[in-house]
Amino acid sequence: MNIAIFGTGRMGKGIVKTFYQYSPHTILFSGREKERAQNVLHELQIDLLAVSMEEALQADVIIPTLWFKDLLPWAEKYKELLKGKIVIDIVNPFNDNFDDFTTPYNTSAAEELQKVIPDSTVVGAFKNTYWVVFDNPVLQGLKSDIYVTADDENARQQIKDLLKPLPFRVLDAGLLKNNRTIERMTLLAAELARKAGSHPRISFNLWGLEHEGI
Ligand SMILES: NC(=O)c1ccc[n+]([C@@H]2O[C@H](COP(=O)([O-])OP(=O)(O)OC[C@H]3O[C@@H](n4cnc5c(N)ncnc54)[C@H](OP(=O)(O)O)[C@@H]3O)[C@@H](O)[C@H]2O)c1
Repeated sequence: MNIAIFGTGRMGKGIVKTFYQYSPHTILFSGREKERAQNVLHELQIDLLAVSMEEALQADVIIPTLWFKDLLPWAEKYKELLKGKIVIDIVNPFNDNFDDFTTPYNTSAAEELQKVIPDSTVVGAFKNTYWVVFDNPVLQGLKSDIYVTADDENARQQIKDLLKPLPFRVLDAGLLKNNRTIERMTLLAAELARKAGSHPRISFNLWGLEHEGI
């Protein structure tokens, strides 16, 4: 399986670093500027060559690490090339103050993305994974949770399997509509972390689940 990650920002770096270290799959890395993407790979000491957006879009699984305002136009532009692919959506639709969302309560970024690319399969993941958590997703023996959502059960299972080698706890979180809750959990986590003085190294670990990887 080929996995393409777009974006040279904080999440792009965290995700490419983690997949490169732990995943047995082929990783492609890209950004709007190939040279910047190559510099990021160099900075992270990742022995890969950056690829163009078009080359990366040949991958089976695509992970855009963009802001919500840029995500839907990006998906609209590349929707033909995204047909038949799994798109992992990590986005929280923050407002400019980062204290609320631009989406109403009856939808989520993941659902809005799925509407733009109906011939692709959107799978939500990493919604609550702050970028610094990728450096060490375990605290006091507890692994950081990744809630995996998709309307297509096969795709959800495929992505759970894909994420399994990563040092997180990967949970089946059901349908895309659950992102209405999961995305907003990030807002709550941020508020609590700021009060505690631990922002942004914070994560969820839902205590009481008997088996890992439900
Ligand atoms: N930060 C977190 O801890 C965190 C946690 C969970 C989810 N998220 C979500 O992850 C996304 C990225 O967050 P981040 O913290 O990584 O942001 P960031 O560091 O600002 O990176 C944003 C990325 O967006 C790309 N970009 C900027 N303008 C663009 C445009 N007009 N068209 C296409 N791409 C554009 C940039 O890619 P290039 O310059 O390389 O092209 C850059 O890599 C957000 O939607 C956020 O809600 C973030």
